[in-house]
Amino acid sequence: MDARVQTAGPVDSAASGQWAAALIGHRQTVLPKRLVEPGPDASQLDLIFRAAAAAPDHGELLPWRFVVIPAPARTRLADVFASSLWERDPQATAGQFAQAREKAFRAPMLMLAVVRTGSADDEVPGCERLLSAGCAIQNMLLVATALGFASALTSGKALRSAALERLFSLQAGEQAVCFVSLGTATKRKPARLRPEPDRYISFLEATP
Ligand SMILES: Cc1cc2nc3c(=O)[nH]c(=O)nc-3n(C[C@H](O)[C@H](O)[C@H](O)COP(=O)(O)O)c2cc1C
Repeated sequence: MDARVQTAGPVDSAASGQWAAALIGHRQTVLPKRLVEPGPDASQLDLIFRAAAAAPDHGELLPWRFVVIPAPARTRLADVFASSLWERDPQATAGQFAQAREKAFRAPMLMLAVVRTGSADDEVPGCERLLSAGCAIQNMLLVATALGFASALTSGKALRSAALERLFSLQAGEQAVCFVSLGTATKRKPARLRPEPDRYISFLEATP
């Protein structure tokens, strides 16, 4: 069956709405140091990756991509974290370098999100492309949550380092946005209190 047909079809019952809201409400960040094996297997990853493609994408530009960093490649990322720390602080201690390197080995599943933000005169501006990437990421996090995995988004100064640009072959106009980590939670924080809609929803008056 082709992907277009698969994604069509209404999901319109109240129960589906409640289920989706519960799933969304259940997602919470679990820091990468608390994400352990098992991570998603190949068929679960396929579901997670396909969820990204359901993101709104103005002009079907596919302005984002994800680079998976499997276990054997983590050492290369560790080298980047260490060299980025060295660029920022050549006086950093051996312990600080070790800590920077160790971050590359957390979480069984690790990906870098890369967005092609383009240039100011592009018809679909960078903010829309970034938003599309955010939707793609959230889609993946939600499917991972539904599959029983925990997740985290992390950033950090190394994302803007020349060494990271080289490692991930970032092209002109591309930006590394964040890492996406997935795995099994060893520990969760209590659910975060979410802001009430009246803090972020308002209604335009019919008259001035
Ligand atoms: C692009 C992006 C990068 C983030 N990077 C970090 C990070 O490096 N460290 C961190 O503690 N939180 C980071 N966060 C925030 C967490 O991912 C998380 O959203 C926040 O802690 C709220 O928790 P919740 O996801 O459980 O609601 C980042 C969020 C986004 C959207």
